[in-house]
Amino acid sequence: MRAPAKLNLYLAVLGERADGYHELLTLLVAVDLSDTLLFRSAPGQQKPVELRCNVAALEAADNLVLRAIELMRARCGVPDEPLSIWLHKRIPSGAGLGGGSSDAAATLRTVADRYGVALSREQLVAWSATLGSDCPFFAAGEPAAVARGRGERLTAVRLRRKMDIVVHWPGVHVATGDVFARATPRPAEESEVRRLVEAIEAEEPAEVLVPLLRNDLLEPACSLAPVIGRSVRMMRDAGLAATMTGSGSAVFGIARNRQEAIRVGKQLRKHLPGLVTIVRNLG
Ligand code: C5P
Repeated sequence: MRAPAKLNLYLAVLGERADGYHELLTLLVAVDLSDTLLFRSAPGQQKPVELRCNVAALEAADNLVLRAIELMRARCGVPDEPLSIWLHKRIPSGAGLGGGSSDAAATLRTVADRYGVALSREQLVAWSATLGSDCPFFAAGEPAAVARGRGERLTAVRLRRKMDIVVHWPGVHVATGDVFARATPRPAEESEVRRLVEAIEAEEPAEVLVPLLRNDLLEPACSLAPVIGRSVRMMRDAGLAATMTGSGSAVFGIARNRQEAIRVGKQLRKHLPGLVTIVRNLG
């Protein structure tokens, strides 16, 4: 299974909820940077599930992949057949790229398929929401969607344009809770998301796109890790429509074409720490 990353092209923090989370309005797009998961039945294996990963720290019991399997076993009577899972991570963790959530959603879908569990899309989305805020988007499997609430109320969005996008993970971790705690909620209009989608489809230049690419978590994240701000500035100075994804710390910039993306990617590699990759949105 391939588990894609996501970028938040728009993320408004609307207010704090009674459960301590924040109400969001966000536009998510899936991109062609992905983790790979390989599932094998492992007769004779001692552990019910064995997770191996190229990033050893992610083999821990709280990995969302393992929690997704536990959830399916608890709720759907999926047999306790021993499973061996190989997780090849390419999406940096704790970067706002949704890697862990995507791995979990891919696991839910694979287990449902493997054992013939007939899950409606609604069930899959509702169950995945208990694992992580970004899971419903990946469980729904749409290339682009507007999400509300904590991310569980989804509306698919048709985005015809294929964008060449530079993604820079500046190598720092910012804790999601700390970033949200510093955010100042303010209202948002759905029309802002519509205008952004129209501007992307119309291939408007960065000057038009930048003011529409709202992320209310950018300033709080920059105050915790100033390198995020440097990355956004470098991309914008180079002519990209750039902002941060999710609660960070990865930054992305929409280029006019692949050549421009590669040129700016090289510049980022030269001047800033971390990892740079060029992606396209799925769909
Ligand atoms: O989704 P996750 O549990 O990883 O989020 C970590 C923390 O980020 C939460 O405990 C909460 O403080 C904050 N958060 C929030 N609103 C959201 C998502 C996360 O306040 N929509």
